[in-house]
Amino acid sequence: MKKTRLNRQQGQAAELTGTATTGQPFKEGELAFPEIVAVAAAKEKLLLHIREMEELYKVLHKRVQELDKARREHQDMFLAAMETLARTLEAKDGYTRGHSERVSGYAVHLASRLGLEKDTVEKLRLAASLHDLGKIGIHDTILNKATPLTATEFALIKQHPDIGARILQPMAPLKELLPWIRHHHERYDGMGYPDGLRGEAIPLGARIIPWPIVSTP
Ligand SMILES: [Fe+2]
Repeated sequence: MKKTRLNRQQGQAAELTGTATTGQPFKEGELAFPEIVAVAAAKEKLLLHIREMEELYKVLHKRVQELDKARREHQDMFLAAMETLARTLEAKDGYTRGHSERVSGYAVHLASRLGLEKDTVEKLRLAASLHDLGKIGIHDTILNKATPLTATEFALIKQHPDIGARILQPMAPLKELLPWIRHHHERYDGMGYPDGLRGEAIPLGARIIPWPIVSTP
């Protein structure tokens, strides 16, 4: 009876391990029955662990997809808010209506021709669409004045790059763009504003935003 039970257990162990049972004495290198059982148990434990890891991977993968979707939605909402800001300016300043969009198009084209990274090109697109935002802080009578500006009025207009950068300063994702916006009226010869920067001292993004081509002051 004991022998029969032992043979059945040996048979089960053989199934688990793929080892044939012959009833012959173990040869050198063959596993003894207790070792076979231990190997089978370890194999079972390993398979269980692999299944647990697979389940964990599925949960993590789903969570990553959810986070990625939330990130994209957040980014879309942020860009929509920025677009709203740009349109707010255009509603206030009729002369710049369509101006930001045109400047943005030129900036993207130029940045692409320069071979800049896609991420940088997209940042330039955003910076260019917001570059004149500071005009929100300039009085309508000056912005929409049909006759030439006085020196005092022009001095006020010249504050708009700095005002724009200060409006956007609390927005952490725009940190890199602020110097491009603040210096978009600098000139390579140092005759621009607000700081009279010259040549390559002007941030690259500010050199690419092409205000002189389709410019308002
Ligand atoms: Fe400007």
